[in-house]
Amino acid sequence: MFEELLRGWDGEFVATRFDAPTSTWMFAGLHSTVLGPGFGGTRMKVYAEPEDALRDVLRLSTAMTYKNAMADLPFGGGKSVLAVPFVPTGQARRELMLRYADLIASLGGSYVTACDMNTTSPDMDVVAERCTHVMGTTEEHGGSGTSAPDTAVGVFHGIRASLAHAFGSDDPSGRTIVVEGAGAVGGQLADLLAEAGAKLVVADIDADRADAVAERVGAVVVDPSDVFDTPCDVFSPCATGAVLNAETIPRMRCRIVAGAANNQLATPEDADRLAAAGILYAPDYVVNAGGVLHLAGYERLGWTPEQMAARLAAIGDTLRDVFEVADRDGVTPEVAAARIAEARIAARIV
Ligand code: NAI
Repeated sequence: MFEELLRGWDGEFVATRFDAPTSTWMFAGLHSTVLGPGFGGTRMKVYAEPEDALRDVLRLSTAMTYKNAMADLPFGGGKSVLAVPFVPTGQARRELMLRYADLIASLGGSYVTACDMNTTSPDMDVVAERCTHVMGTTEEHGGSGTSAPDTAVGVFHGIRASLAHAFGSDDPSGRTIVVEGAGAVGGQLADLLAEAGAKLVVADIDADRADAVAERVGAVVVDPSDVFDTPCDVFSPCATGAVLNAETIPRMRCRIVAGAANNQLATPEDADRLAAAGILYAPDYVVNAGGVLHLAGYERLGWTPEQMAARLAAIGDTLRDVFEVADRDGVTPEVAAARIAEARIAARIV
């Protein structure tokens, strides 16, 4: 099964360790190092089978190649998965992270890690005890702090570029925008949109969060199960993945989808479903690049806040290019974004 998965993958290599003390499979996937070291987070998760974890690392490291290329970062795509039998805590967790750090160190800088699902900045501090190929440590250990505000700014620029393409004006003023998820990114995005004069609708499974954001920005609160049926100009998914699917798309009453959540499309066909419904889709990994820009920009590239602001604004320019290629080639924005990323990588292969 491992062989079948690897034969069907176009990446560079997967470093694999079985950690006997915790029965954890460690996979560090390097999809592409053409644009620079593979950069992507460490996911800790319980899987039914190690093959499921390997499948995830192949898929996720590939996605990071595209995300980092579209963010115009000098990084390729990588991702790690720690397939644990249960999520460890305390000393056992620390020891696991140290052994995992040894695996990353052995890759000699071809992979740079960070936090992902179930891993935190204190975990990255432990990794940093053994190697320097890590971002997203705590601020006491030189980390750059939460990336959510910069992610929100990037999404804001993405929404403006999408409005310009769909309506001929990038002005959010008077536009109705549904923000699904009033968390770290969704809350900050709501602030930016309210300041720009948008009419906001928010939803969160945590009603208190939705209420707090709504009160702050003067938004209407809807039940999370009603977000897809709410008429609006922009639907902004800032909660979880796979929200754009065969069940939700026919219900959607928006002109644009542009938000922070990762992996919004449940399947590749959902990009076609959106196009057929006349909905402009801003590819998630282009729009939510503020997260990787924040980490790489502040922790590796020495950017000033002014440089960061310029690079976040450039997310809007990239999206304009994506929509232009989509229109020119008669393909979905999802396909257009992949073509642009692949062209950027091909241009570096001699
Ligand atoms: P968060 O955990 O602070 O906020 C997520 C919010 O969504 C929570 O308030 C949660 O209660 C709510 N939620 C969960 N399921 C929901 C549902 N079905 N309907 C409505 N609300 C629901 O997370 P954060 O940092 O704001 O991230 C939001 C999304 O953006 C995530 O998918 C994340 O992977 C993605 N993202 C975040 C980045 C960052 O810099 N924080 C960078 C790139 C992507």
